[in-house]
Amino acid sequence: MLDQTPEAPASAGGQPDFTRRRTFAIISHPDAGKTTLTEKLLLASGAIRQAGQVKARGERRRTRSDWMEIEQQRGISVTSSVMTFERDGIVFNLLDTPGHSDFSEDTYRTLSAVDAAVMVIDVAKGIESQTRKLFEVCRLRDIPIFTFINKVDREGQDPLGLMDDIAATLALDLTPFTWPIGLGTDFRGLIDVPGKRALLAEERGGPLTRIVPYEDPIDLLGLEGVEARIVEEAVESLSLALGVLPPFELESFREGHLSPVFYGSAIKEAGVAQLLAGLGGFGPSPLPRNANGRTVEPAEANVSGFVFKVQANMDPNHRDRVAFVRLCSGVFKRGMKLFNAREKRHMAIANPIFFFAQERETVDEAVAGDIIGIPNHGMLRVGDTLSEGETIRFEGIPDFAPEILRRVLLADPMKSKQLQKALHDLAEEGVTQVLRPLTDPAPIVGVVGTLQLDVLSSRLDKEYGVPIRYESVSFVTARWITGDRAEVDRFAETSRSSIALDRDDQPVYLARSQWVLDRAIEEWPKLKFVAVKERG
Ligand code: G4P
Repeated sequence: MLDQTPEAPASAGGQPDFTRRRTFAIISHPDAGKTTLTEKLLLASGAIRQAGQVKARGERRRTRSDWMEIEQQRGISVTSSVMTFERDGIVFNLLDTPGHSDFSEDTYRTLSAVDAAVMVIDVAKGIESQTRKLFEVCRLRDIPIFTFINKVDREGQDPLGLMDDIAATLALDLTPFTWPIGLGTDFRGLIDVPGKRALLAEERGGPLTRIVPYEDPIDLLGLEGVEARIVEEAVESLSLALGVLPPFELESFREGHLSPVFYGSAIKEAGVAQLLAGLGGFGPSPLPRNANGRTVEPAEANVSGFVFKVQANMDPNHRDRVAFVRLCSGVFKRGMKLFNAREKRHMAIANPIFFFAQERETVDEAVAGDIIGIPNHGMLRVGDTLSEGETIRFEGIPDFAPEILRRVLLADPMKSKQLQKALHDLAEEGVTQVLRPLTDPAPIVGVVGTLQLDVLSSRLDKEYGVPIRYESVSFVTARWITGDRAEVDRFAETSRSSIALDRDDQPVYLARSQWVLDRAIEEWPKLKFVAVKERG
């Protein structure tokens, strides 16, 4: 029930209205319940009819694409995807992020395409390492955050103590929207704080269909059908929370300083409708985006967008390649010709697709906030900007200096051409960075997490028929070298065996130790040794 949804302005000329888009991601530590919550959000919106379908979809994808064996073996999600669903006239675009930290680059780029995030926390475990890292990324980008504290049907930490702990750990203001009535075996329902009502199960463990309105939480004392001890504890802790925690303030939330907290149980669908109402009601509609020298407003007439993800070979039988584009302005129409600022070329977007929960559908029209998939043969890569002719470069889609470097050796030396092509493809997808040393024909791949190496070798073998092995190199880190061209060349000449070129032919310094890097920085003060490079 989206009872907090504001009246949206009438859409002009029957066109889709960007103010009714909510584009968000769910961030969490593995096992906190992201998949279950995703599924229940889809169920609550009617996008799927049966539980278990999100996983079933995953299974299908896995059998289609062999490299996903790795995901199966390790029980982690290594790929991001998009799910679009609609509820009460609001279109939600949910961007999935890989939970494993080895894929943080992918996650980082996905978070560049959202306007809000839902942070899922396990009520027993509190803030875990991966939640914290992802939260920091959101904070860096001022992304407003909804907090969903999951698994209240299990024993967990005291709700107020946990809020205190999260607030202190993340230096974030929190304010309660739903509050548990009992935890674990005592769980009886939720208090819907802004709705001023208790949501209770008719029978223990059942859905929360019994609704009891109140004026003040203390009115709930003496609630029929629930043990007095459990209600008293819930009312007391909620009253304390309301006394000590700040009230909800839209501006503070939108700036990323305050997070509304929904206690719930994804598995029991408790608190999920309230979270969805919050997302629809006060979650931000598509926000302006910073580009080179100006801010692109979603209401601008001309279409613009950027590629935040490329997925190749979703079906190995049909070498397809889909670029996921976040639209930032204008009204996109199928068949439009869009300008790729990097290639300085127009391309006709003939078969754009939307990703619904259970199917893909051809896009006829789309607006800011929407994610469209553009099938292509390698013309689009992560970080590319599309526009109606203006050269725009959106900020915030970085490449990170790889922390793990390996030389790639071919099992079959006859396949060096195929290897080049495959590495080129996978680099454009953002799976790896490929560096070509000046003094060695074997390419070096650079990744942020070791699991990326496994994915890379598995995909090279299964999708491109190029088995490889890795050899360690004596470099510990890499930095892009920028500065005056002649100075860069002089440096490259003195350190030839430590220089490689990236896919844009930009020189990269491969350092044998942190000490060596520090010395180069000191000795070449006119040069910059850059750890994060903007794409595009
Ligand atoms: P993830 O995507 O964040 O990794 O988590 P996922 O949803 O897969 O959930 C992790 C485990 O936690 C699953 O159990 C899931 O059923 C359970 N879970 C999720 N939400 C709740 C909840 O609200 N209450 C309780 N009690 N459990 C919850 P599993 O045993 O690993 O998998 P499964 O066999 O149940 O699918």
